[in-house]
Amino acid sequence: MNIILLGAPGAGKGTQAEVICKELDIPTISTGNMLRAAVKAGTEYGLKAKAAMDAGALVSDDIVIGILKDRIAEPDAQNGFILDGFPRTVPQAEALDTMGVRIDKVVEIFVPDEMIKRRVTGRRVCLDCGATYHIDYKPSKVEDVCDVCGKPIVIRKDDQPETVISRLETYHKTTAPLKDYYEKQGKLVSIDGTKDVATTSQLVLEALKG
Ligand code: AP5
Repeated sequence: MNIILLGAPGAGKGTQAEVICKELDIPTISTGNMLRAAVKAGTEYGLKAKAAMDAGALVSDDIVIGILKDRIAEPDAQNGFILDGFPRTVPQAEALDTMGVRIDKVVEIFVPDEMIKRRVTGRRVCLDCGATYHIDYKPSKVEDVCDVCGKPIVIRKDDQPETVISRLETYHKTTAPLKDYYEKQGKLVSIDGTKDVATTSQLVLEALKG
């Protein structure tokens, strides 16, 4: 099954992708995690992406489409995948169609902006393996240490309040039109993402079965 998770920054896409990944045994492809890894490694496209990411703006379609195309060609993605953070613009969605990538379901996780701001403020991430935590809603077992790989967990650079406002504006202007794009293809299911993580997971899994 090829799945897209849509939703504002901090809506819980990465959190739910971890659940679906275990449930369906398919990999999560997070363009945000790939870009952060590229920035950390100082690769050519990492250097190009850094300024946009720090400012809460989108990285250029050319770069993101290029890394996505390479990633979905890898062997582990041949039996299905979860796209987290891609597509984010209509040209990115069109690029998937042009590549001949079949999308089965698009799940929008809807969370109002005010709740997003509270969630993102408490988020902690592992820059090594990409695991995500929340100081109140999903704390790590040992404070400031990743449960998965044992490395330190930190506040993401683009989670500063003013950057979050700008990311939300970009989402509403540039990414939200994808709801119409996939609605017209009969693939969009919207779920309420305001409940706790476990309840939201149930809603997501039901949406995938329906
Ligand atoms: P990216 O990493 O994709 O960030 P994002 O889409 O802004 O999404 P987030 O990772 O912020 O949030 P999420 O929805 O995954 O929420 P999470 O599960 O962490 O992109 C970062 C940057 O990279 C972009 O700004 C852009 O510059 C660039 N980029 C990436 N892809 C791109 C593309 N395709 N094109 C161009 N540029 C691109 O949850 C948030 C917090 O809430 C966590 O702490 C979590 O524990 C908690 N939480 C989750 N669910 C719940 C719940 N139900 N109840 C309570 N707390 C919850």
